[in-house]
Amino acid sequence: MKQARVLFVCLGNICRSPTAHGVFANMVAQRGLTEVIEVDSCGTGGWHVGEPPDARASAEAHKRGYDLSPLRARQIHSTDFQRFDYILAMDQVNLADLRDLCPASYAGRLDLFLSFAGDVAEIEVPDPYYGGDRGFAHVLDLVELASAGLLAEISSARSAG
Ligand code: 4NP
Repeated sequence: MKQARVLFVCLGNICRSPTAHGVFANMVAQRGLTEVIEVDSCGTGGWHVGEPPDARASAEAHKRGYDLSPLRARQIHSTDFQRFDYILAMDQVNLADLRDLCPASYAGRLDLFLSFAGDVAEIEVPDPYYGGDRGFAHVLDLVELASAGLLAEISSARSAG
């Protein structure tokens, strides 16, 4: 049975949140926790619904051993706030948009993903869509850090509960 459900959210669901989805799902699988932790991603916007991740995000992820090819973009849905325990935004605009949509009773499930990244200067995963390829490597650096912190947090919550 799933004990924790995690939803990563960005604007388009083709760059940052699918990267987080792929990296975190890989970490979960390596720990043998696929049956315990559900992982998904979506966008606040609907422009790219049904599309695979951006080719630049997929290429950068592939270099580090992550396969984003099965993922397809979808938009946040009202039922997501009830379903997911951790609803993690890539930047402050995504978080504000989620707060506007989220019923008050579930507002505590919303957070910035990088709140799990420990001692990094940044609080947002910067949007790489209009930047160069180096932006995608930086996204992966931040996503790997925060994913490790998130998995540690969920693991300690599980052992406490
Ligand atoms: P993402 O990046 O939010 O990390 O998926 C973007 C993807 C598409 C657009 C903006 C950001 N767009 O404007 O279409």
